[in-house]
Amino acid sequence: MMRNFEVAAPPKIDFVDGGGAKPMLIGGEWVHAKSGRTFTTVNPANGETIAEIAAADSEDVDLAVAAARRAFEESTWRDLNPHARSKVLLDMAEAIEAHAEELAQLESLDGGIPIAITRGMVASTALTFRYYSGWPTKILGTVNPVGDSVHCYSVREALGVCAGIVPWNGPLVMASWKIAPALATGNTVILKPAEQTSLTALRFAEILGECDLPPGVMNVVTGLGEGAGAAIAAHPDIDKVSFTGSTMTGKKILGASVGNLKRVTLELGGKSPHIVLADADIELAARNAASGFCVMSGQVCVAGTRILVQDSVHDEFAEALIKAMSAYKIGDPFDDGTTLGPVVSKQQFDRVTGYVTTGKDEGGRIAAGGEPVNSSGYFVEPTLFEGVDNRMRIAREEIFGPVAALIPFSDVDEAVRIANDTPYGLAAAIATRDVSTAHTLARRLRAGVVWVNTHGELDLTFPFGGFKQSGHGRELGAQSLDAFTELKSVMIRL
Ligand code: NAI
Ligand code: MG
Repeated sequence: MMRNFEVAAPPKIDFVDGGGAKPMLIGGEWVHAKSGRTFTTVNPANGETIAEIAAADSEDVDLAVAAARRAFEESTWRDLNPHARSKVLLDMAEAIEAHAEELAQLESLDGGIPIAITRGMVASTALTFRYYSGWPTKILGTVNPVGDSVHCYSVREALGVCAGIVPWNGPLVMASWKIAPALATGNTVILKPAEQTSLTALRFAEILGECDLPPGVMNVVTGLGEGAGAAIAAHPDIDKVSFTGSTMTGKKILGASVGNLKRVTLELGGKSPHIVLADADIELAARNAASGFCVMSGQVCVAGTRILVQDSVHDEFAEALIKAMSAYKIGDPFDDGTTLGPVVSKQQFDRVTGYVTTGKDEGGRIAAGGEPVNSSGYFVEPTLFEGVDNRMRIAREEIFGPVAALIPFSDVDEAVRIANDTPYGLAAAIATRDVSTAHTLARRLRAGVVWVNTHGELDLTFPFGGFKQSGHGRELGAQSLDAFTELKSVMIRL
């Protein structure tokens, strides 16, 4: 079947600088890269070029750092009355909401994410700013019990210049997880979006011109990972990098941080287990397991790509899972009914389809999917392997596409052993009707988030991050405020 998807009514991309190459925001000015270099961003639904974007390198990063440093030292932001800072964050949330449909369309165009999902993502981005807008007035210190003749207290202070380096699988949402808590605590920010999906970051920054942020408090530097990204990671005058992306790049960022011992938060990859026990609601477990690796075409850090199923319900569950997978509708990201868009790039397409070949070569059997989709876009069919051993590459490596492995187990101990036998530890899921099993298993799994009878639900109020090689530190909730501040203790002899 020929499935060639054209974008029905592409959103306008004449923001920032008319129809030309997109400049970046440095110190309140829209500027091109000093070198004049640009890179291309592509629509993954049809492979066509959307726009040229400024490709920053270390020279431009230096300028952005200088602007952010100046804005920090001028302290019009960091010393702003907390109520006023709160109001600016609230205004940012409202500005996003006022431009919600436009931002959602732009996100769908650039990243191929179905519009029904990007609408939710934009709402979630606004909610992140709303949530953190409540915090500036609630960041408390302590009075420390050091004795009668001494007054000793501790306060939280902004770190300084904080950079966010974000991936392409949730461009605005990921940016908001960095920017909102950084600004709430009085820092100045440099955002580097992923090269595949920079457009919403630029439009977002332009929209923020409607809010009362002093120039230089929020900067956007566009460019490639090895250029702009590496220059940020190594920069001696950046106080913190908060990164979301692959484990390999996360290790490079941590390595580059040693020069000035900058603070680093890493949100990395995963190979998350989804354990289906014999007593589970099989239909529900199947729907959750399917969404666990099909939503966003599997390009999700918490994707449940190792589906562990108890022997006695293996066949019944496999059948229900294949049925649940078939409910995903591949199509034009701009069609309201589409639930499965393309993967983000040709490179990602080659990677994912390469893993399907690897899985077959390793002796995995394809239970569903695995067929090419006839389109000029980078579409991949949801694909399920069965007969998978946890030592195979398709069970160990992050594929980042709609590809999962079904792995049988006989008892709970074996399930725990297989689930934890991975270098990753971002997420895990359990399907059971037994409340005791749910709690005891949740304790035994080495993962930063454990879901029971659901999958992929996150909330801004809870700490999020990975065990083992899935991360370093936590984001969201109050933990993000700690991660964007230093603690200072003051001792006064009375
Ligand atoms: P990546 O981790 O290299 O890219 C993420 C961000 O890091 C982008 O903004 C990129 O420009 C930047 N970056 C790249 N190299 C850098 C460096 N040396 N220093 C500083 N910043 C750098 O991921 P990529 O190459 O886009 O995708 C490759 C694989 O990584 C995917 O197939 C997937 O398996 C994994 N990935 C995982 C993500 C997750 O959330 N767990 C997100 C994105 C990718
Ligand atoms: Mg793109």
